[in-house]
Amino acid sequence: MSIEATEERHALGHRMKRKEDPRFLQGQGRYVDDIAMPGMLFAAIARSPYPHATIKNIDISEAMKVPGVKAVITGKDLEAAGLGWLPTFHGYDKQMVLAIGKVLFQYQEVAAVFAETRGAAEDGAEAVQVEYEPLPVVADPFTSRKDEVILRPDREQKTNHIYHWEVGDKDGTARALESSAKRVSQRIWFQRCHPAPLEPCGCVAHFDAMGRLQFYVTSQAPHVYRTALALVTGIPEDKIHVVSPDIGGGFGNKVPVYPGYVCAIVGALKLGRPVKWIETRTENLTSTGFARDYHMDVELGADRNGRLTALRVSTAADHGAFDAAADPTKYPAGMFGVVTGSYDIPVAHAEVDAYFTNKAPGGIAYRCSFRVTEASYAIERAMDVLADELGLDAVELRRRNFIKKEQFPYPSALGFTYDSGDYHQTLDKALEMIGYQDLLKEQAEKRARGELMGIGISTFTEVVGAGPSKHFDILGIKMFDSAEIRIHPTGAGFVRAGTKSQGQGHETTWAQIVAEELGLDPQTIMVEEGDTDTAPYGLGTYASRSTPVAGAAIAVAARRVREKARKIAAHLLEVGEADVEWKDYKFQVKGVPAKTVTMKEVAFAAYTNPGPNEPGLEATNYYDPPNMTFPYGTYIAVVDIDRETGEVKVRRFLAVDDCGTVINPLVVEGQIHGGLTEGFAIAFMQEIQYDRDGNNLNTNFTDYLVPTSLETPHWETGNTVTPSPHHPIGAKGVGESPNVGSPAAFVNAVVDALAPLGVRHIEMPVTREKVWRAIQGGNVA
Ligand code: CDP
Repeated sequence: MSIEATEERHALGHRMKRKEDPRFLQGQGRYVDDIAMPGMLFAAIARSPYPHATIKNIDISEAMKVPGVKAVITGKDLEAAGLGWLPTFHGYDKQMVLAIGKVLFQYQEVAAVFAETRGAAEDGAEAVQVEYEPLPVVADPFTSRKDEVILRPDREQKTNHIYHWEVGDKDGTARALESSAKRVSQRIWFQRCHPAPLEPCGCVAHFDAMGRLQFYVTSQAPHVYRTALALVTGIPEDKIHVVSPDIGGGFGNKVPVYPGYVCAIVGALKLGRPVKWIETRTENLTSTGFARDYHMDVELGADRNGRLTALRVSTAADHGAFDAAADPTKYPAGMFGVVTGSYDIPVAHAEVDAYFTNKAPGGIAYRCSFRVTEASYAIERAMDVLADELGLDAVELRRRNFIKKEQFPYPSALGFTYDSGDYHQTLDKALEMIGYQDLLKEQAEKRARGELMGIGISTFTEVVGAGPSKHFDILGIKMFDSAEIRIHPTGAGFVRAGTKSQGQGHETTWAQIVAEELGLDPQTIMVEEGDTDTAPYGLGTYASRSTPVAGAAIAVAARRVREKARKIAAHLLEVGEADVEWKDYKFQVKGVPAKTVTMKEVAFAAYTNPGPNEPGLEATNYYDPPNMTFPYGTYIAVVDIDRETGEVKVRRFLAVDDCGTVINPLVVEGQIHGGLTEGFAIAFMQEIQYDRDGNNLNTNFTDYLVPTSLETPHWETGNTVTPSPHHPIGAKGVGESPNVGSPAAFVNAVVDALAPLGVRHIEMPVTREKVWRAIQGGNVA
């Protein structure tokens, strides 16, 4: 079974093949590194081998002698130009562009070298001689919070503590937990991982003959970059043109502005030639936005019948050397407040304390709506720990505590208003599809024979679509999104949006929304994104916000086009506008089915015979969403574990998602397959590890594992459709659901398999060695 739409429509819900794929499949995609300009120079960056050290001296003389090297810049040069520090998108911190005075993490940017070839630039970077004096290293948030070594003396407050954030009823939660008949607590760590997009980050900076900055960059948010660059460099915003061409995966990694970008711009300005900077895989893994690294103490209370009474979560977050998480201003811990998940929990309290450490900066939303993945993992793992304590089936515990269909819109204990849902329906469908009762029977038989089989469930809820302007901004810019539609005389047209696809299929799905609203052919609606000279201002694509926000803007703009078209239709049909209705994707004289005009006919008339109406057929919309959307799902994993080796085999995995109205089932299925593969990798393979001395141990794809088709399990999918009541077409986001929902299902399945051996929790990544140690009765955390 696959993802299906519920009703037959003109263009929505069709499994239309992706319009962009012929280009990609034939190697015709145009990425930043494909750009070549006459006279173009190449940049490379010299990086610190030390995680924490004073810089005593930088000698660039040898680097300047490398043939082809044109210039070398250091932090001091940038500081003199007022470009030493970069504000982070979070708004609470700033980040060194090139190290000034000291380095704070291994692989930190120390000097930028510009040369005629990439090879010469890299040789030049190697030849930069830096004298370091090592300083004590702080490699975890628990050491950091003791404040024995202050990492950021540049800040006013002399502490490593970045912020304390909390939400909910602290005292009420404490009281409810104390009086609960049952209570469990579990330390759960969501390890540091990295989005590792196949295309690393890069840019080409060029000042054209008019002195205008032409900036090609792998950005998920080109408009925000334009504004940020104007603010940082002082270049007037009209003199900056940002273009994000095709992007080979972003997953949140391409939201922040990185030092390499500023260096390339400075190099282009200084040398009067275009400069290209493309990072290596190692640079991507070691210095650009990591994700997660949340140490969460989760406590759940319940009565004797397994009804939840309270939830308390206390988190220590490792943010690395600079607070470069790209969260909305008012939400330093993102949407972590969704940690109450799909459950009707009367009282809750969540708090997050973030700390600096000598690690790369980040904390970005890796295929995640700002810390939703951490929150979802915490509650879904804790529910299994509680089920174990209560001696209840994990499915039954969830069923008893789900928010009920009739409770929506549901105000959660931590301040969200969930828009819509029918959790019981989705759970029931998943249980039926996977044959849950048969699996339980099989498991009982296997357990009797001493075999290790596990069934893991995750019934997650997300919060996506940032966001309503009263709550959400980045650097003060409200998180609306936008669309501009123009229909040409022949009924073909284009839609431009403030989003930027990195593989999500917007060229197809945005065309489907326009085609649905206007009764046109989606094949003849061109989609354009990523060019700040042409696209209307938008906040970009991350956190599954494109469909909830830009998708809505597109539908509203299309409806505006339709209103304009109705006037022209009235003129063509020779009736008053009030007598024209939109029916079966055509304009019709009310009550006279024989008298109709198509949108194509109206489009032609808009340019040839508009009557008393303004010629042309176009509209724009900036959409400020009234609420977030709350997609959800039931995921079930079935695993078998080899007792001798600790090898885990994911025998089955079923994802039943509900993302409201489905625009394109094929695209949604692709999103789910991709996200599950990433969730699988996080659960079993991936961790950015630092040793106690602050050395990064996962600097390439032999140490940071990306699953191939050999390891990747077969994915089964299904869906239910509960439209969002406030979205113009009822759609919710879906891109990150599989990454958010799946880690808990995998780990719950492994723990379930090991439960007869007394195992209650195991930390990700669940490696063969950890499982083997658990089987031997050793420490597995
Ligand atoms: O923001 P991002 O594009 O990463 O995530 P999204 O809004 O969840 O959309 C991912 C892709 O799935 C887009 O091409 C959407 O149009 C498509 N989608 C869909 O077809 N139906 C939905 N209900 C949600 C998303």
